[in-house]
Amino acid sequence: MSQDNLIIFDTTLRDGEQSPGASMTQDEKIRIAKALERLGVDIIEAGFPAASPGDFEAVAAVASKIKDSTICGLARALSNDIDRAGEALKHANSARIHTFIATSPIHMQMKLRMSEDDVVEKAVAAVKRARRYTDNVEFSPEDAGRSETDFLCRVIEAAIDAGAGTINIPDTVGYNLPDRFGSLIGELRERIPNADKAIFSVHCHNDLGLAVANSLSAVANGARQVECTINGLGERAGNASLEEVVMAVRTRQDVFNCDTRLDTQHILTCSRLVSSITGFAVQPNKAIVGANAFAHEAGIHQDGVLKHRETYEIMKAEDVGWNNNRMVLGKHSGRNAFSSRLENLGFTFSSEKELNAAFARFKDLADKKHEIYDDDLQALISDTLTTEEEAIKLIYVQVCSETGEMPEAQVTLDINGKEESISARGSGPVDAVYNAIEDLLNTSAHLQVYSVNNVTDGTDAQGEVSVRLETKTGGIISGNGADTDIVLASAKAYINAVNKMHSILGERVHPQI
Ligand code: KIV
Ligand code: ZN
Repeated sequence: MSQDNLIIFDTTLRDGEQSPGASMTQDEKIRIAKALERLGVDIIEAGFPAASPGDFEAVAAVASKIKDSTICGLARALSNDIDRAGEALKHANSARIHTFIATSPIHMQMKLRMSEDDVVEKAVAAVKRARRYTDNVEFSPEDAGRSETDFLCRVIEAAIDAGAGTINIPDTVGYNLPDRFGSLIGELRERIPNADKAIFSVHCHNDLGLAVANSLSAVANGARQVECTINGLGERAGNASLEEVVMAVRTRQDVFNCDTRLDTQHILTCSRLVSSITGFAVQPNKAIVGANAFAHEAGIHQDGVLKHRETYEIMKAEDVGWNNNRMVLGKHSGRNAFSSRLENLGFTFSSEKELNAAFARFKDLADKKHEIYDDDLQALISDTLTTEEEAIKLIYVQVCSETGEMPEAQVTLDINGKEESISARGSGPVDAVYNAIEDLLNTSAHLQVYSVNNVTDGTDAQGEVSVRLETKTGGIISGNGADTDIVLASAKAYINAVNKMHSILGERVHPQI
């Protein structure tokens, strides 16, 4: 059987980030982009440069740092969007512009208020303008999943003629069923006269829980690029999950005559990184990356697995990065051992100062916790790199909590270089700390979600706290913090969210609304 390459186009940093509460800072985007590059993702959609100056800068920063993956910028079929994307990608080793316009009757009439002729004209103009910046142009007829096939054929043929080398078919609202979606791809490839000049791609949303199934059905019908996100992150019910698509194709090579180039052993690291940066927890029974994905509880299963693994396992846990969580370092480990282990995990320090700050935090952790695992290092690094950059820093927390008394917290923050302290009471220690922080910062944000997860086992484990705040203006932002003391981790998470609130939630244009 001949093996085609199935191109993996990751949109965690663009469509994933459009998920409420998943906004990321530039540094966080770079960290995720590096992890995706190491995973071997072919194309990274780094953002929508016309959304805001911050989004433009983030795409430009990712483009200048990533060498082995193509970096893509999204643009509506508007000259300004395309020019912004072209400029943001100026320093990319390999750049792609992805331009789109809606083609379904409901979107054309109600959102664009354009005729079919107008839409074709705009699509052609957008592709031609994007070709001024790069030969690598992708065109998407948005809401293709609810568009009329005859019109899709017309607009796609025109986009290919105008110079689009990739045609992406989005099921924007997750409406399609696998059989029909797969045959749509087959029909488009057959009916469009110049279809052989483009690679067909799919981009499925998960509103009916079918994003992965629809993507796979499209691959079986000739799609050779899948757009997906780590952990299935994305608007509403999310996008197709990268790890599920990749492992389905790899595991069922008896069915698919294509495979990806990914080094799947890095899947779990990417999943954890995205979860810890966005604060979106991975459900335990999530395929591939959930905590229970390879766990065997029932005695009969365990017995079967011990006798012969394939009785109950279709994949090897280690192939996606499980079982790599070795105890690696301890109190006596030196700087070299520390930085080389982190290099193996895909972290490179951008300065001596960054390494020193992380190493000091490591020593501190090793004093409290004797065995340091890879997961500990990842949580520690996330925590160190974010707090180094922040305008508001936690200096000191003291909490007094005793039976029959209302807990009281004293908190000192460094707010833009000036130290301020306050004490406050609350129904519990975390509530008291949050009340004190709010008294100092006056954000009036509403705490929507608060969760704590243990990074490793044992009572000396670090707790990773995730919070989601809703701002006065309805913006949603998440924050994270890790520490062996969960009250401290809680304070760090809240402060992390407030810092992000200032740096990310400005005026921002949503590409599809
Ligand atoms: O879901 C969608 O249609 C999109 C497009 C911008 C490709 O995200
Ligand atoms: Zn989408």
